Formats: sequence, C-alpha cells, structure tokens
Amino acid sequence: MSVRDAVLARRSWSKVTDDAPTHAEVLEFVAAASRVADHSSLSPWRVIELRGDAREKLGRAINKSNGDKGSSSKPLRAPLLLAIVFSPQKSGKVPSWEQESVASGVAHTLSLMLDDEGWGVIWRTGGYTRSKAVAKMHKLGKREQLMGWLYVGGKPEGKREGRRKTADPRKKVTTL
Ligand SMILES: Cc1cc2nc3c(=O)[nH]c(=O)nc-3n(C[C@H](O)[C@H](O)[C@H](O)COP(=O)(O)O)c2cc1C
Repeated sequence: MSVRDAVLARRSWSKVTDDAPTHAEVLEFVAAASRVADHSSLSPWRVIELRGDAREKLGRAINKSNGDKGSSSKPLRAPLLLAIVFSPQKSGKVPSWEQESVASGVAHTLSLMLDDEGWGVIWRTGGYTRSKAVAKMHKLGKREQLMGWLYVGGKPEGKREGRRKTADPRKKVTTL
C-alpha cells in the first residue's frame, strides 16, 4: 500500500477490542515515528504507555481535575493508551510552536502506522488534558504538557467505522 493509500484508508476507531500491541511493538512504532521532521533535531516529545491499573489512575485524575470523586471510566475504553507528551527543549532558534508541531507530527504518524498495521486507534483529549491532576499522575516535568492520548486496541471484526470525506482541495489550496 502506498503512503497515500494508507492515509486515505485510515480512520479512527472509537470502539476497540482488548488486543493491544506489545511493549516491544510500541517501541518499534515509536522509533519509526521519531523520524518526523524535527527542526534542530530537538526531539521535543516523549510517549507514556498506560495499561491496566495505570488507566484507572488516570480515571481518578480525570475526576479529580473535574472536582469529582471516584474514577472516570473513560480511559478504560481501550487496553492501551499512549500519552503523547510535549517536552519543549531550550533553543534560541526553534520556538515552542515549532516544537509542539513536532510532537503533534509524532502523534499523527503513530496513529497512521498503528492503523496501517491493523490496530484500532483514536486520538482523544478532554478539558482535563492539561490539568494539574492529570499532569501529576503522568509525572510530567515542569515544562511538559500532554497532547492527549492515542487510545489503541484491536479493530472489532465485521465493524467498519465511517470514513470522513476528503476536503475539497480547491477550497484548501490557493496560489499567490
Ligand atoms: C488533538 C486531537 C484531539 C482529539 N480529541 C478527541 C476527543 O477527545 N474525542 C473524540 O471523539 N475525538 C477527538 N479527536 C478526533 C478523533 O481523533 C478523530 O480524528 C475524529 O473522530 C474523526 O475520525 P477520523 O480520524 O476517522 O477521520 C481529536 C483529534 C485530535 C487531532
């Protein structure tokens, strides 16, 4: 499949099965995603794997950030969550917005590769994504911020999620 075909075929999977890529497989996907364009090669990102109980810890942090007791079941919607962390690096040349673009590129590239290799993925966020409680639960550094989570699992058999139409390129591309 060409890269273009893979991009056109990708869709998000809001419901996934309990299958998940192994830690070793995640490392391979992350190694490949690290090849995104990266001004000055600052590598201003990292990934945190959440499985099992870690997802319940996140559920508690979500509720705490909303001022609620107990644990949100949201993180239990997939067996594996990949938290994408923006880790800005000191640079006199590369501003924060450029570095955040790199972290975003990593998340998109991971989603595409996971989808292409048969895994169901959806990038999720929420009002709590950059809350103190959620940052603390992920043990983020002072300057680090979450970009959200890739919820990853198996693609349910026989189910096909709807696919978005491509944008009308004539409305998206102008010429100067
Ligand atoms: C930064 C970011 C955050 C997102 N957050 C959510 C979310 O919290 N919940 C959700 O249902 N979709 C969220 N989405 C959208 C889905 O990931 C997905 O793109 C959308 O459902 C359209 O499906 P498609 O990717 O198959 O076209 C987010 C996307 C991005 C890029």
